[in-house]
Amino acid sequence: MARSGKVAVIGAGFYGSTTAQRLAEYDLFDAVVLTDIIEGRPEGLALDINQSRPVEGFETKVVGMTTGRDGSGYEAIAGSDIVVITAGLPRKPGMSRMDLLEVNARIVRQVAENVARHAPDAVVIVVSNPLDEMTALAQLATGFPRHRVMGQAGMLDTARFTNFVADELAVPVSSVRTLTLGSHGDTMVPVPSACTVDGKPLTELLPAEKIDELITRTRNGGAEVVALLKTGSAYYAPSAAAARMVREVYTDSGAVQPICAWVDGEFGISGVYLGVTAELGRDGVRRVIEIPLADTELAELHKAAEAVRAKQADIQHL
Ligand code: APR
Repeated sequence: MARSGKVAVIGAGFYGSTTAQRLAEYDLFDAVVLTDIIEGRPEGLALDINQSRPVEGFETKVVGMTTGRDGSGYEAIAGSDIVVITAGLPRKPGMSRMDLLEVNARIVRQVAENVARHAPDAVVIVVSNPLDEMTALAQLATGFPRHRVMGQAGMLDTARFTNFVADELAVPVSSVRTLTLGSHGDTMVPVPSACTVDGKPLTELLPAEKIDELITRTRNGGAEVVALLKTGSAYYAPSAAAARMVREVYTDSGAVQPICAWVDGEFGISGVYLGVTAELGRDGVRRVIEIPLADTELAELHKAAEAVRAKQADIQHL
């Protein structure tokens, strides 16, 4: 199989290292570069993943690189087609994603400036939290066109929702389609009208109270894992979603997925990074796709847009 392309993952914590592993196991890319500011950590993890290659049967090489506060080491990401930003602190039990705003803004700004310097043509996928704000900040700090900077959240929230529905109905996850839009946080907008099981509307299969219960669990999906882990936040489902986004972009698939994208008039909303359905391709976001929404869902999406707009205005000064 011909392999090509280079993907960089910034931050070699739980989220970054599992993303690098998943990307390498796709066996699609020439190289996956993993970086972190903790001396030796990315190099050690890269060595470890590379040593799994004979067992798992993939050839993609993972390259680890420690980066300095002065930007040293970033030359390793030169020529990357896609950069995934996972650097930043995760939540502790009881914290909201918004509690990470200031500390992660400093980290993401520094990372994004170095990405712009060393991988000026890359598509950037942000996963650091609070997601919608960090995506907006990464676009500002890179100065990249907005279609080349996006955030991962909707694919994860949707995967959580799908998993809960499949468990509730005791059906395979593959027969369930769900959708969440809005912010990756309190103003997440689950879209029951777009949810189906084997093509049948979810609203015909479960009572409204049960759907509400699953929606609440989805909205609190990350916090539920944080509370159980006690240190750190989720990374298996998040890294699955981030790696899948990378693949859709790199293969120019045209897949329509819920992602955090710049919205410019679609759904009657303008000038904000928000969770919406969008078509992915080699240049990033090809276009935001306006799917039909129930009136209440559209109203909730507008509410989410205003909530993140206010926060995204603040980050310019962080
Ligand atoms: N440059 C590169 N890496 C950095 C920087 C920086 N400036 N600052 C911090 N890091 C690294 C840390 O050294 C750590 O290894 O980011 C990594 C974060 O890893 P974890 O603490 O394991 O957190 P993780 O679970 O990977 O989550 C990362 O994703 O889901 C979000 O809320 C989560 O914002 C958090 C991010």
